[in-house]
Amino acid sequence: MKTHLLAATLALATVSAHAAGNDIATPAEQIFRSGFRSDNPKYWMTRVEQDEAMRLCSQYKDNPPAKVRQKIELTQKASIRYPVDGKLIGDWKEGEKLAAVGTGGHIGFIQPDPPGRLRGGNCYACHQLAAKEVAYGTIGPSLRHFSKLRGTGDDVVQYAYDKIYNSNAFNACTNMPRFGLHNWLTPEQITHIVAFLVDPESPVNKD
Ligand code: HEC
Repeated sequence: MKTHLLAATLALATVSAHAAGNDIATPAEQIFRSGFRSDNPKYWMTRVEQDEAMRLCSQYKDNPPAKVRQKIELTQKASIRYPVDGKLIGDWKEGEKLAAVGTGGHIGFIQPDPPGRLRGGNCYACHQLAAKEVAYGTIGPSLRHFSKLRGTGDDVVQYAYDKIYNSNAFNACTNMPRFGLHNWLTPEQITHIVAFLVDPESPVNKD
């Protein structure tokens, strides 16, 4: 409820500031921060700090000029870390579970996740993957038949890994989370999700 109110307030602030031709970034930021009570655990506030890429995307309203876009994508690409054994394809069955899990890392007083709760990729929130899962969001493109359509070459595998690790490396201001960069998923977990996308036996490609 509070979040909705906050969103409504921000939307109003945006509309009126546009009408007046003002820069709304600073007041909007203040309204946003005041929504977090000061007696909350300190680490919560680390979740609202923007890094350089987010800051630039906000500044250019997710549409930066080519030079800035390139700079963001290059620095994001440089952040990508690989598993120690160098293997990018894990176990698709593990990946299937991780792609479907939407828990982990929730903060708040009503239903916070206990520390240590499995964090998933929540991929279905935005993508279609296996045909048998009918509840999926459409913010992102369908990933059904991922390797059936693109093959299983090293370039496809590498792209899938890199995209999940740091989506901004390919699309500077995308809405897709940066799962590896934020240590949301470990490199090993990412290899399992890569397998879910590329393994010919995975339901993403089979059904
Ligand atoms: C909050 C929404 C959201 C979530 C959650 C999300 N994605 Fe995405 N994803 C997107 C959007 C939007 C795009 C398209 C824009 C882009 O390429 O960044 C995308 C693009 C992709 C692409 C590139 C598609 C192509 O045609 O090349 C892959 C691969 C992908 N996502 C995989 C995943 C996987 C795997 C997960 C779960 C670990 C995931 N995404 C979670 C929003 C999301």
